Amino acid sequence: MSEERVLIKNGTVINASGRQAADVAICGEKIVSVAQNINPEAKTKVVDASGLLVLPGAIDVHTHFELPFGDFSSADDFYTGTRAAASGGVTTIMDFVTPEKGESLINALVKRKEQASEKVCIDYSLHMGIVDVNAGIINEMKAVVEAGVPSFKVFMTYAFRVIDKEISRILSRAKELDALIMVHAEDHVSLEALRSKFISEGKTDVWHHYLSRPEDVEAKAVREVVELAKATGGKLYIVHLACAEGLKAVEKAQLEGYQIFAETCPQYLNFTRDVYKRADGRNFVCSPPMKGPESKEALWRSIESEPSHCLSVPNVGINTVATDHCPFQTYDKDRGRNDFTKIPNGVMGVENVYPYMLSEANKGRISFERAVELCSTNPAKIFGCLSTKGSIEVNKDADIVLYDPTKDFTISQENMHSNIDYTIWEGVKLKGYPVQTYSRGALIYKDGEFVGDAGHGRFIECTLHSNVEKSPF
Ligand code: URP
Ligand code: ZN
Ligand code: ZN
Repeated sequence: MSEERVLIKNGTVINASGRQAADVAICGEKIVSVAQNINPEAKTKVVDASGLLVLPGAIDVHTHFELPFGDFSSADDFYTGTRAAASGGVTTIMDFVTPEKGESLINALVKRKEQASEKVCIDYSLHMGIVDVNAGIINEMKAVVEAGVPSFKVFMTYAFRVIDKEISRILSRAKELDALIMVHAEDHVSLEALRSKFISEGKTDVWHHYLSRPEDVEAKAVREVVELAKATGGKLYIVHLACAEGLKAVEKAQLEGYQIFAETCPQYLNFTRDVYKRADGRNFVCSPPMKGPESKEALWRSIESEPSHCLSVPNVGINTVATDHCPFQTYDKDRGRNDFTKIPNGVMGVENVYPYMLSEANKGRISFERAVELCSTNPAKIFGCLSTKGSIEVNKDADIVLYDPTKDFTISQENMHSNIDYTIWEGVKLKGYPVQTYSRGALIYKDGEFVGDAGHGRFIECTLHSNVEKSPF
């Protein structure tokens, strides 16, 4: 392990819990001191952070790198995806293992780690997908938790969906194992009925992607899975929540004291369903789709509420902002030019999420502390890596972002670091931008340039075991 010393001087350190004018001393991979006026030891590299904010790196708990889709795959692999992440201040990503039906979960985990390990430029973890439910899978979940993967993901739609009875079984098992169940919530029966109707009527333009998966389709599934979590006592995490009614159901259950968490994504905070009327609407196709303005406002209301850390009720509402980064090249999206059902689903965001949320903070919509909480601290708490990630504190990994609040930035495909040939964020203006990113003490991004290395990232073993990590809130 390198014992290089770095001293970040004269910045403002922002954690979810507050801010302080302080220097941050790094030795090797760890933060060793956060205090005022630290004197550099011999051979210390001193970084002047005057006028800059010193933030914990973001943790994007929802990416899909190298996701197979028919005969092609999502545009970013673990190298280009984590290169883009680092360039947007993300220092940890969490991606997914998707086992084949009948495949051992542990085998699938080993294979996915092999696929990622030589490419990742930042630390990473994985969630285990569950595509069929049987005694063997339920049994094997324990070994997966012991391998450092305490989060499992199921879909309520798509070909590999699992049905309510099976979700209940998984939630009950998760309770026994101190694990978390992540759910893609859209009601399969209603959306299939709508899709079939539109196809039979020849209504296959992109706007009908939205019309086939409107607010009710998502809200119905969210309400359903919330009830399953309440009945079983299993910990639930709703991924990419995009609708007001779904959020209401989550908030109600949270206020009743259930361990239910919700993630939204920057695309749902910045766009509405109107994007599907644009000429490039296919590029915005993701599921769930962007919704109406009422949903966007409801999500923002929740983001804007500053949770009080002394309240006995949990942090109510949206708990994390992650990306669901899953872009496909324009020519792949074009496969559905005349038929929305053939457009591969997914949009980009891993390089945009932290700059976007921090820019909203810089414009005064939320505090910087809240942006850090949503993008770094809560993800670390909820997914079980708070002992090393999620804040700037002594003994934590030196995963640090220096942020210049005076730097104006206009997002364009040309200044992004992903492998994708467009961005849905083209032309979006940000106030402030990250200028340096450190991953375990190593500088990996500086002034618009990625300067990291493939293979630098490590697999992070997570744990939600109650003896080790206290309940998040
Ligand atoms: O459209 C999306 N979100 N694609 C990625 C897979 C998923 O549903 O999360
Ligand atoms: Zn999903
Ligand atoms: Zn996803």
